[in-house]
Amino acid sequence: MSSHSPIGVFDSGVGGLTVVKEIMRQLPGESMVYFGDTARVPYGSKSKDTVLKYSKQIVHFLRKKEVKAIVVACNTASALALDEIKQEIDIPIIGVVEPGAKMAAEITKTNSIGIIGTESTIKSGIYTKYLRAINPEITAVGRACPLFVPLVEEGLLEDRITDDVIERYLHEMKEYGIDSLILGCTHYPLIRNAIGRYMGAEVNLVNPAYETAKSLKALLTEQQILNQSGEQAHYEYYVSDGVDKFSTFAAKVLPCHVERATVVDIESY
Ligand code: DGL
Repeated sequence: MSSHSPIGVFDSGVGGLTVVKEIMRQLPGESMVYFGDTARVPYGSKSKDTVLKYSKQIVHFLRKKEVKAIVVACNTASALALDEIKQEIDIPIIGVVEPGAKMAAEITKTNSIGIIGTESTIKSGIYTKYLRAINPEITAVGRACPLFVPLVEEGLLEDRITDDVIERYLHEMKEYGIDSLILGCTHYPLIRNAIGRYMGAEVNLVNPAYETAKSLKALLTEQQILNQSGEQAHYEYYVSDGVDKFSTFAAKVLPCHVERATVVDIESY
């Protein structure tokens, strides 16, 4: 695999574009092939077996695109499928959970950390596992926030309804006295202003996408496949359904012109 090959990035849908955005910012020389499983989203309420099956199909598709490394941008897939996929492939692959936990463990001063994510991510307990492996003194409290995903997809980023739902989900977390909150789902960084307003300035909001892009750079450097040619990066987008909705969302999230996505029959992989 050459350093000129693209990086494969996948998510259950559009949310992983927040990770793409961060990779574009930190690694402007890297081309990417993005797959969003828009036909089968959400993953956050599905079983491990299903998420693993879907993730394997997507990895298979990305391998056909000759990617040099894969980023699992979806927190749920990182939580439920990454360990198993890692055993099966021979190119570098990283998820968003470990980098996110690392960053939170670094910045906490009180060792009291909150995690929000999908039902499956929170139920898996994976963020807590990584946090406590880094520092056994850490206490972590998790809360599933399933309504945040549709609110973001409806574009209600600054809206009274979103503020109400944030209060409903996070009031116990606020009382718990955490000093850092991991935004453990691809969509949540898009409502970070509203979440930050509610939690208050004393709570640091951790966006795993930032640390994931940093870890990706370190990994590519270590494997000697970082693209340092200075050539223009190019981006391809694939989805399993709903091209128009994807394009509208992508245009709002990404800082550049977004080529039209192509529909893929992912079940055939
Ligand atoms: N991408 C998912 C995640 O980060 C959120 C949407 C879903 O439930 O599929 O966990």
